[in-house]
Amino acid sequence: MIKINKLSKIFWENKEKVEIFLDMSIEINSWDFISIIGPSGSWKSTFLNMLSGIDTDYSWNIEIFWTQYNNMSEDEITLFRWKNISYIFQNFKLIDNLTLRENIDLIIELNWLERNFSTDEILEIVWLKNKSENYVFNLSGGERQRVAIARAFVWKTKLLLADEPTGSLDQRNKKIIIDLIEKLHNKTKNTIILITHDTEVANKSDTVYEMKDYNLVTK
Ligand SMILES: Nc1ncnc2c1ncn2[C@@H]1O[C@H](COP(=O)(O)OP(=O)(O)OP(=O)(O)O)[C@@H](O)[C@H]1O
Ligand SMILES: [Mg+2]
Repeated sequence: MIKINKLSKIFWENKEKVEIFLDMSIEINSWDFISIIGPSGSWKSTFLNMLSGIDTDYSWNIEIFWTQYNNMSEDEITLFRWKNISYIFQNFKLIDNLTLRENIDLIIELNWLERNFSTDEILEIVWLKNKSENYVFNLSGGERQRVAIARAFVWKTKLLLADEPTGSLDQRNKKIIIDLIEKLHNKTKNTIILITHDTEVANKSDTVYEMKDYNLVTK
């Protein structure tokens, strides 16, 4: 269960104080697969950064699987994130001067997590096995996105945060990734919070929310 209670965040724009999320409260059940749509700049990525504990500059409370962030130090939150959350970032956050394989294995070695797949298996699924020893800086945008997806799926976590995971993919790869998300969700019963501009992708989820006027509303 993820409980967000009276969340708000202050943001300064041209020396003016802007409050966002306006006491947003929402509960997301474990095993839920939800998606969030909304215009560009409507604070969707910021919201995921708060859920992941990367952005801690807010009030009041976020509780993820009975763990409350506001009782924890930054180091404790980081450790919690490594153990419990997979995150497909909008800008991928890959390490350019490591190979595909190293990008995927690095996180596993840091975390001692149980795997969903071996590194070879997941690279095969995202059609990149033949490039496993290539450096990431040589990859195209769509290939980078697939490495980011592989890295998020390879280990077993309770929560998957996916920020536009199909944004740079062609139709065929989009279908592969969405099928994979569904398959893994059915198998591992993880919680998924997925941001997308693509209604076809959003409609795969159990509930579609829209980020509207700094708040999440059901579509
Ligand atoms: N660290 C920051 N400091 C100041 N402004 C920021 C910061 N991060 C994001 N913003 C601003 O906050 C707003 C929301 O950004 P965010 O990335 O959350 O939007 P988004 O809904 O994910 O948009 P998109 O669909 O384009 O990805 C934008 O106007 C952005 O410029
Ligand atoms: Mg975004």
